[in-house]
Amino acid sequence: MQQSVLDFSMDYFSLKGKTAIITGGNTNLGMAYAVAFARAGADLYIPHFLPDVSEVKEAVLAEGRRIEFLQGDLTDADYRKKVISDCLEKYGKIDILVNNAGMGVFAPFEEYKDSDFARVLDLMLNTAYYLGREAGLVMKKQGGGKIINIGSALSFTADGGCPPYIVAKHGIIGVTRDFANELGRYNVQCNALCPGFFKSEVNTGVPKEVVDRVSAQLPGGEWGEYGQLMGTAVFLASKASDYVNGWAVGVDGGFTAMI
Ligand SMILES: NC(=O)c1ccc[n+]([C@@H]2O[C@H](COP(=O)([O-])OP(=O)(O)OC[C@H]3O[C@@H](n4cnc5c(N)ncnc54)[C@H](O)[C@@H]3O)[C@@H](O)[C@H]2O)c1
Repeated sequence: MQQSVLDFSMDYFSLKGKTAIITGGNTNLGMAYAVAFARAGADLYIPHFLPDVSEVKEAVLAEGRRIEFLQGDLTDADYRKKVISDCLEKYGKIDILVNNAGMGVFAPFEEYKDSDFARVLDLMLNTAYYLGREAGLVMKKQGGGKIINIGSALSFTADGGCPPYIVAKHGIIGVTRDFANELGRYNVQCNALCPGFFKSEVNTGVPKEVVDRVSAQLPGGEWGEYGQLMGTAVFLASKASDYVNGWAVGVDGGFTAMI
């Protein structure tokens, strides 16, 4: 039997002693990743846009883990820079980055504003690239790390009434492959985690006909619950996924398979 088979342990899934940045980790899916990581042993650094951090703070502290925050707008280049430097100042390292922050601005295709297109792309694509590159270079110096870019079922399909969302989520796959290629040799793995359709605020503006179409296309018929993403997030952040690099892992209840 190969030595690696004998060595395999459930400890490979542990995040004990790791420091993780999760953008938008104070709301919805981001908060679920934060709770999952804390439960797996990681300390958290949360760049947040909305002021209320009480829920995630309480949940992470209850796990006996540390959590730090920095509020700001990730479309602001100075704030993006500060996220990396402030995390290093507070923890001295970055082991895991989750590029989770996102937004949808919904309008008919014919009326879509250029300014909204640019804003959504800046938040979801430019920010993921900037933070991933900067955190990746820190991880390179440290000897390894994990970058998880949050994509979507809409990384592979086009739907939903928000053109830049589709473009950004497809682009996330490109960013993921670029980082896998550039950083893999330094033991930094980058993968995309692609949720399907979850009951969440980001979906409140989705037109009703899209909601109905999506529901009809789900093999189980149900939109996802946050807890259904937590195991995959921990896997992609942990040693258990060290030979998974440059891939997009879908957690979509079979939505994409039904296209
Ligand atoms: N909910 C779903 O069904 C679903 C499906 C696929 C992908 N996703 C993706 O998951 C991620 C989280 O979505 P969610 O459903 O938890 O919604 P959410 O609105 O709670 O998450 C988005 C986060 O980004 C933050 N944000 C928004 N604008 C920002 C800005 N300018 N600067 C910094 N942060 C900003 C928000 O405050 C929030 O914390 C997003 O990338 C979204 O596209 C969600």
